Order: sequence, then C-alpha cells, then structure tokens
Amino acid sequence: MPRTIVVTSALPYANGPIHIGHLVEYLQTDIWVRFQKACGHRCYYFCADDTHGTPIMISARAAGVRPEELIERTHGEHKADFDRFGVEFDNYYTTHSPENRELSELIFNRLNAAGSIAKRDIQQTYCENDRMALPDRYVRGTCPRCGAPDQYGDSCERCGATYQPTDLVDPRCANCGTPPVLQTSEHYFFKLADYEQQLRTLIASGHTQKSVANKLDEWFKAGLRDWDISRDGPYFGFKIPGEDNKYFYVWLDAPIGYLASAKNYCERHGLDFDRLWNSPDNELYHFIGKDIMYFHALFFPAMLMGSGFKTANKLFVHGFLTINGEKMSKSRGTFIKASTFARHLDPEFLRYYYAGKLTDTVEDIDLGIEDFINRTNADLVGKYANLASRSGPMLTKKLDGRLGHLDAEGRQLVEKLAAAKGQIIRDYEGLNYAAVVRTISALADEANRYVERKEPWTTIKTDAETTRATLTAVLNAVKVLAIYLKPILPAFAGKVERFLNVGALGFADVEQTLEDHEISSFERLFERIDEEQVKTMIEESKETQAAKPAAAEPAAKAAASFKPEVTIDDFAKLDLRIAKVVSAEPVEGADKLLRFVVDVGGGQRTVMAGIAKAYQPEQLVGRLVVFFANLKPRQMKFGLSEGMILACGPGGKDVFLLSPDSGAQAGQPVS
Ligand code: 2FM
Ligand code: ZN
Repeated sequence: MPRTIVVTSALPYANGPIHIGHLVEYLQTDIWVRFQKACGHRCYYFCADDTHGTPIMISARAAGVRPEELIERTHGEHKADFDRFGVEFDNYYTTHSPENRELSELIFNRLNAAGSIAKRDIQQTYCENDRMALPDRYVRGTCPRCGAPDQYGDSCERCGATYQPTDLVDPRCANCGTPPVLQTSEHYFFKLADYEQQLRTLIASGHTQKSVANKLDEWFKAGLRDWDISRDGPYFGFKIPGEDNKYFYVWLDAPIGYLASAKNYCERHGLDFDRLWNSPDNELYHFIGKDIMYFHALFFPAMLMGSGFKTANKLFVHGFLTINGEKMSKSRGTFIKASTFARHLDPEFLRYYYAGKLTDTVEDIDLGIEDFINRTNADLVGKYANLASRSGPMLTKKLDGRLGHLDAEGRQLVEKLAAAKGQIIRDYEGLNYAAVVRTISALADEANRYVERKEPWTTIKTDAETTRATLTAVLNAVKVLAIYLKPILPAFAGKVERFLNVGALGFADVEQTLEDHEISSFERLFERIDEEQVKTMIEESKETQAAKPAAAEPAAKAAASFKPEVTIDDFAKLDLRIAKVVSAEPVEGADKLLRFVVDVGGGQRTVMAGIAKAYQPEQLVGRLVVFFANLKPRQMKFGLSEGMILACGPGGKDVFLLSPDSGAQAGQPVS
C-alpha cells in the first residue's frame, strides 16, 4: 500500500549562506525522502527560508536594502545551493508569505480563544539611538562574573555564566554602542504549561529518540514556563492581529512555515491541504538538529495541539558536524560554504560520505578530511565506478553493446545482491544509512571479486559469448547497486540508468534482470579526488570568511563587530578625491585582483583592487572613481598598492564602483 508522507527539514535563516554543517540535515532528509519515493510512496518534502526577526532586519539595514530584498536574494542563493547538492524539495518556500501570515494568525487566534495566550508587562532593554528593543544577543558588555569584556547579553563565552542583559557591566547596544535603557512593554505569552500532560503523552508514545526524550524529561522537571511570543516594532515579521506595533516573535511563525509551505504546494497542485496535513492516514515527520529541540518538541507541538492541527508522528533529531574532530572553524577554513564545496568537488562525494556516517542517533558526525578523501576514492571510484567502467565500455566496443543472458554463476551473483534488499530497506527506513552504505559497499566488493575471477579482459580474446554472459552479470549487479545507492547518489544512478538504457529505476526493479538488451554509450561516473583540490577549497574558505565577515556570519555577530566611533575630525583626515582610471589589467596568480593606474590630478598611482569578478578591466579605462589618496602605501604579494578605490556591495560579482557625476575631474576632492 503506498503511504502518504509529509517531511520537513528545519528552515534555514535567510541571512547567511548554506554551509556543509547545514547540509548534514538536508542530505539526511533528502536521502530519506528519495528512498520513500523509490519505494513507490507519495512523499512530500517541504521547507522554506526562515525570514523574520531582528538579525535579518539588521542585516538588511547594514546592506542598505529592504528586508524583503535581502530575503529574496538569499532565497535564490539557498535554492541554488540545494540544487547543486541534489536536495530536491517538493516546495522550497518562504515564511514571509501570505499563507504563513494567515496560518500564524489562525493558530494564534485559536490559541487565544482556548485561553492559552496571556498578556503582561515585561522590562526590556531598549536602544534610544536605534529606537528599538534589543534582543539579548544585541546587548554587549563586561561579564558580571569573570570580567571578560565584550560578552553577549545572555551568556559569557569565557566563563559560561548565563544572566540577563541588565546584569552586564557597562552594557552597550551591539549595533551602535549606546548604553541601553530599560523600558516597560506589554508582551504576549503562550501558556505552554497548559499542554504539559498532552506533551508528556506525546513524548511517551515514542515521538523522538530515547536520548531526546530524556532531555525533555529534564525540561519537564524544571517546569514549563510561559513563552514570550511577541516583539515590539520595529521588527521584520507579522503584526499581531489588533496591534499596531507588536509582532509575532520569529520562532512563532517559523515552524508554522512548514504548514505554509505545504499549503502553498497544495494550492498549486490541486490538493486539499487540511487533508494532507491532518489526515490520520498520512504520516508527518520533522528532521531537526539537536539545538532546536525545545522549539520542536515542546512549543510547536503544543501550538498545534491548541489550534486543532495534527502533530508529527516523529521528530528525527541529529547531531552537529565536526571536522577532523573539531568544531567548524573560519580560521582553519573548515567553515565551508555549499557553493565553495561544489566549485571544487562533486557534491555527491559529500552525500556519500555523510550517508556513511549517519545513524538514527543524536551523536555528532565527524568529517575527517583524510578519511573523506580515502573513502571517496576507495568506494565511489574504486568500487562502484570501477565495476561499471570495467564492463560497460567493453560490451559497447567489443560485443555490439548487447547484454546476453545470465549463466548460473552470474544469476547467483545477481540474486545475492537482490537478497540484501529487505535489510537495505529496513536500514533506510530506520535512518541507519551507515549500515546501508556498509552493506552496499560489501556487495560491490563481491561483484568486483566476480569480475576478477572471470577476467573478461582475457576471455574476450577467445570467447565472446562467455564474456557477454560475464558482462551481463556485472552490469546487472551495477543496476542493483545503482538502485540501492539512488537515494544517496541520485546523479550517479541517473548516469547508470542512461547508459543501461532503462527508465527511472526504483526498489521494485531490483529483481527484474536486464537480459537481451541493448545498452547506450558509457558516461564517466566519478573522478578521483586529488588532495590538492581539498587543500585549495580549505584555503579559499579561509580567505572568503576573513574577507567578508558580514555576509557569512549571523547578523548579531556582524553587528557586534562594528568598529569604534570616529569623530568628524578623524574622517576629515581622509583625502578622498576623484581619480580617473588610466589602465586596468588582471593580476597574474590572483583571480580576484585588478592592477590599476589612476590619475589622481597631478600624478598617477598604482593600486590593486579586488574587483576582478565584478568588472572587466577594459570596461574601466577612462572611468572616474572615488579614490582614497592618502592611505599609507602597502606592499602586497603582487606589488605596491598606493591608495584605495572605493566600491560597495556584498562582493564577488556584486561590487559597484561609486562613480561620481559626469563632469567631475580627476583630482577634485569628494565632499
Ligand atoms: O535554527 C534555525 O536555523 C532556525 N532558522 C530553524 C527554524 S526551523 C522551523 F521551526 F522553522
Ligand atoms: Zn543602538
């Protein structure tokens, strides 16, 4: 019986790039969804960008754009990253959508009608300069316990103390440095404790893994407290019905974004959303990381219970990614963006490596760089691609590309592979991908041993038909392995399907052998990883992070890294003037740099500027630019740079020269 299954992954924030840490979850989920689809079930994978809240509002301000523009741009980037890694959502939506507004209001109104919403005054930190309430992370100051300077308003990174922002010594707004004041404001609260019994029953029914249930037990013991679900404007989010300047806290509408993404999909595909989400016949699963358990195991199910929506059958919680046993690190270059990885390596390498590590536990998974290279080369290249490349081209070149019939030994091999299907299905279903990979890799060894034994490269010289039977067995083995691997390696499986000249394969095809069948031309499947590629990728990740902290870090941290104030007198020391570009040329060995000669009025200067991705050098000759003329000359690896050309934009292709009005002259001061 086909099942109907709705699956979600946590919604990534819309103000930063997808990195390989995020991908643990999206790949874990995508593999599961692809597996369900390959079994013939109706499985829908919904996700969206998480677009609201103070950090996104501040990131947008810092970038000089409206939040709507920022989230739209990020949406495109996220979608492109997911596409690169084969993460195939049925709908990748946004929480800033009409469906999400409508559902958030509906759920809030129902909770209100059920008496689960309270209102009361709180004291909040407020910046009179920015005229906004400050979340804890936007207040910085000296730790009241250990005296460490420049700590967040909720906890100290040095001694681990947790406290209120008002406890900080010498607190400052992280955005502008002004000391915040305390302000009284009425907030809305969700009475979580009203749902304690229902939540306890849900958890006791096996809603999560055991270790998660134990953690939840601790939280139940500590007591469920009311949850503050409103924020005062200015805030990027949805207004609370009947309020002028109060908004839903981002964490209220974020998980409702799962429903909104599903609803939007249903509306576009003629499906009944209420039925899809609420039918007891349908299954619903959320994949999340262990850092957001409280929201997904307590707040969100309680909100659904109180508003008449079905809660998930299961919450699948995974651990974090470590690299070489340590946290991902910008300075070590292991904070690798999805787009950077995909520029250097085949994304399927990561899919396979993660699959080989993933189980159903909340343990962290480690990407050991050496191990990653070895595993990829040994399995993907040495086992799967090798098996196909030893047999496909020989059949095409020497035996008219036609599969024959299986002989007894060949049939035995193929049947042995097919016999593992039940175990592989159980392991996929139970999220035990590491076991799936172990089984498949052992089966590939078996098939490779068969080839070694049969030596088709020798028999082809004397016995075409025996060789055809051998290759028929090997290619049938490749077919079965490709079906097993398809949820993990969809692009690889697609290539195998094309060269075997068959349609989309699923688990139902495992037992159907391919005999007396013409295959197509062979496509190369995987290229070996060369250690240098990985080194270059890591080097590049070091550079990018250092060069663009604001784009890569959460906005809270970017905002916190504002430099100390300068006076207008300090600013007046800068000699900013118009310069004319005399020549511009690429710099050999530095693909981001251009070397310029500019006329600054009464002299010429040579400067290096990192804008090669944004402009062709020849476009720039004769152009007027704003030039920082009294910057101390700096000896760079590629020569002396005598000043700075000013430009703005997020980097890469999007760098814009501030060209002054036409009619300006080289040397003219900028006012
Ligand atoms: O922790 C995060 O990255 C959040 N953006 C996850 C939200 S998941 C869901 F609740 F929307
Ligand atoms: Zn401020």
